[in-house]
Amino acid sequence: MAVKKMWGGRFNAVSPEFAQEFGASIDFDQAMAAEDIEGSIAHVTMLGDTGILSQDEAATIKHGLQELSEELTQGGLELTVANEDIHMNIEALLTAKIGPLAGKLHTARSRNDQVATDFHLWVQHRLPEVIASLKKLQVVLVHQAEQHVETILPGTTHLQHAQPISLGHYFMAYFNMLQRDVERFDFNQQHTSISPLGAAALAGTTFPIDRQETAELLGFQHVYTNSLDAVSDRDFAIEYLANASMLMMHLSRLCEELVLWSSYEYQYVEMDDAYATGSSIMPQKKNPDYAELIRGKVGRVYGDLTGLLTVMKGLPLAYNKDMQEDKEGVFDATTTIMGSLHVMTGMLTTLHIKADRMGDAVKADFSNATELADYLAAKGLPFRQAHAIVGQLVLMGIQTNTPLQDMPLATLQAASPLITADVYHDLDPVMAVERRQSLGGTGFDSVRQQVATGKQLLGDAYAGTTVD
Ligand code: ARG
Repeated sequence: MAVKKMWGGRFNAVSPEFAQEFGASIDFDQAMAAEDIEGSIAHVTMLGDTGILSQDEAATIKHGLQELSEELTQGGLELTVANEDIHMNIEALLTAKIGPLAGKLHTARSRNDQVATDFHLWVQHRLPEVIASLKKLQVVLVHQAEQHVETILPGTTHLQHAQPISLGHYFMAYFNMLQRDVERFDFNQQHTSISPLGAAALAGTTFPIDRQETAELLGFQHVYTNSLDAVSDRDFAIEYLANASMLMMHLSRLCEELVLWSSYEYQYVEMDDAYATGSSIMPQKKNPDYAELIRGKVGRVYGDLTGLLTVMKGLPLAYNKDMQEDKEGVFDATTTIMGSLHVMTGMLTTLHIKADRMGDAVKADFSNATELADYLAAKGLPFRQAHAIVGQLVLMGIQTNTPLQDMPLATLQAASPLITADVYHDLDPVMAVERRQSLGGTGFDSVRQQVATGKQLLGDAYAGTTVD
């Protein structure tokens, strides 16, 4: 049966139940139940301290809220669609507990600043968890990089063999990408840690509230200095989703390579059995499902971002009911990034790396052609001419199935008299990697340096960790 609403004083009719269900958010905003109670406790504490409510009234309300908080942790709050959203559900439960005094909790507050407060708190609570999970994955990347400084594989551009690189260098590239993700989420905290509480509906309040007090009680670093902005702003959530999208984009690139590398054609890596699945029809199959799934889940996080950007586009100030659509995408993206990070961490930790296969792949692929061009350029030949000479040698090598390092000295010298026997040193793929000591290059010492810097950046998150 449709019941009269808390706000129903000026209404003569109630909406049909299907419309109420359509308008309700309790199915999903119950995820903010803890934050809603926390926000109310801070608000009522302030109402008591400022004398807006008597200390006795405030204490009774606070006590009721604390009981609800305990019931929540024990999984026992009874929430109903009839009460629309988490804010009115909690207030209804409080009323059932302490009677009409509960109605004083909403003094100098609106659901508009209340929902904004809950949402800020929810994201503020998640950010450190996201950052911690990101760092765990970075730890694995550093470990793998450290172990594979001297593992060599073909570096590619256009997915064509380009120049040999260190596998450690490859892992550190992802480490750096994730480091920027950490920094972005960190910065996101600055835009999230701002209290909207006390902005009331949109214009502030005539009550002598203390917004600094509630902000401090809730662990917010700042307060919004404009009440319209406070209730209208969802930038922090959009920023969070943009950061989540960027992170997923990074993970999907790594996943794509793991999928390729575990194929029969590459066989550079093998997923551990714990991170692969079989086929229901083909007994031999070992599928990199988890990597594929992370790659696939990028779509939903981009969708969450696009969804919220679109909800907020063109909205007039201040609160509009459209904004109720702001939460599910943020909840969904959080579940997705946390799950993806966790699975990726396990998958990389247990990954079987076939260093021999990787090394074999650079032996006859002409990926040392740049070495020969550089060799000639170092002897004074303009690089363009060197490039042309080596190009012709490569063509000859392809036709005769002879890698550059297997060509007789006489053949090389016929192409350029500048070439002497020491060229074979430079043509060794290991040397090609080791000698790239330019800042940020793939040279072994350079990669070791990157690993050391990575450990420093991780600081406490690295100290004492072991990866098995
Ligand atoms: N359930 C609403 C939301 O999530 C709460 C705010 C409602 N405010 C209002 N003025 N109708 O956005």
